[in-house]
Amino acid sequence: MYLERLELQNFRNYDYLNIKLNSHVNIIYGNNAQGKTNLLESIYVLGLTRSHLLHLDNNLIKIGTNFCKIKGSIKKNKITTKYEIDYNLDKKTLKIDKQEIKKISDYINNSLNIIIFYPEDLEIIKGSPNNRRNFLNIELSQLSNNYLKILNEFNKLLKIRNEYLKKMSKNQEYNKTYFEIITNYFVDKSLLIYKMRKKFVDKLNENCEKIFYEITKLSGFKIQYINNFSDENIIDKKQFMLDKFTKNINKEIKFGSTLYGPHRDELEFFLNDKNIKLYGSQGQKRMAVLSMKLAEIPLFEQFKNSKPILLLDDVFSELDDTKKNNIIKYLADDIQVIITTTEIKKINKKKFSSVNIFKIKEGKIIKTEEVEGNERKSL
Ligand SMILES: Nc1ncnc2c1ncn2[C@@H]1O[C@H](COP(=O)(O)OP(=O)(O)OP(=O)(O)O)[C@@H](O)[C@H]1O
Ligand SMILES: [Mg+2]
Repeated sequence: MYLERLELQNFRNYDYLNIKLNSHVNIIYGNNAQGKTNLLESIYVLGLTRSHLLHLDNNLIKIGTNFCKIKGSIKKNKITTKYEIDYNLDKKTLKIDKQEIKKISDYINNSLNIIIFYPEDLEIIKGSPNNRRNFLNIELSQLSNNYLKILNEFNKLLKIRNEYLKKMSKNQEYNKTYFEIITNYFVDKSLLIYKMRKKFVDKLNENCEKIFYEITKLSGFKIQYINNFSDENIIDKKQFMLDKFTKNINKEIKFGSTLYGPHRDELEFFLNDKNIKLYGSQGQKRMAVLSMKLAEIPLFEQFKNSKPILLLDDVFSELDDTKKNNIIKYLADDIQVIITTTEIKKINKKKFSSVNIFKIKEGKIIKTEEVEGNERKSL
């Protein structure tokens, strides 16, 4: 799968943009605050209907205007599909091949598969557990058609269960049978989420150690998934969880909230048994997240039958030249990559067999180059 063409109207600092992309490597370069991240963000929004940054949809509309449009043509197995997202100040319209799609999950399930790596991703390691659960949720929503649905049902049950526990903590009346039914459903959904997250992390672990090694020449990188069900000795996981709730009901009433379940899950990252969050350097943390993201590529191939589009925002900053080259070597594969950078000179373009280079200034492309093998032509 690759993005053939991208068209933007009133998106962030772009009035209008229409570019043809390379199916292999694309480098977007320019000074700070010219629109490099914005361009990647538009592709991400086209795939997942909202920004990877915690912004409101309205922030995406160019200041001073009242709508924005993102259009993209995706080529997959020789078939081109057109995607379009229109925002105006109170409405978002999603279209696939000009047909309006009402349900966001239907759009996402049939949309572009994207892996993004961006500077704020460091929070997956450095930040709160919420960052790590968000990571799991976003990636699994793309990989599985069911995950988002199950997660939404789970969140509804969690909310109801917490309301009950709050009532109980205030000694208010409640329906005990209904509470038990909710707990039962809650455990069912928790178990489904656990299984999907566990499979995902197991699969990541199959690939990420090797990738981390190829970039850093350090071995022993591992991700650990921590969940109430994790103990392999627990045979009947459902009964185990129900018993846990029965045993700890007074504690839950005291806190007025559900203390066990996937909303408490954690991920930990290790390099040779040393926790990277506590002992890793800044560069190692970046490479840990990058390796994890690159380890997802084969998962998309396996579960979605196509290679994802890789968006790398500022991936080369803070890295020494050897690591930059190791990353480039790794990316010299047949996947579409769109990379932003402020320093084009430091990138060895010859390592890529085919690359399009775009220079951006104030929301406009001011120079385009296509390099095919050793041939170079300025457009
Ligand atoms: N809704 C908007 N309307 C108009 N301009 C916007 C909007 N949102 C952001 N901008 C502008 O976009 C620019 C930032 O673009 P972007 O984040 O893509 O920069 P960048 O090229 O990635 O820079 P850096 O190298 O610092 O990461 C800023 O000048 C900002 O004011
Ligand atoms: Mg940027």
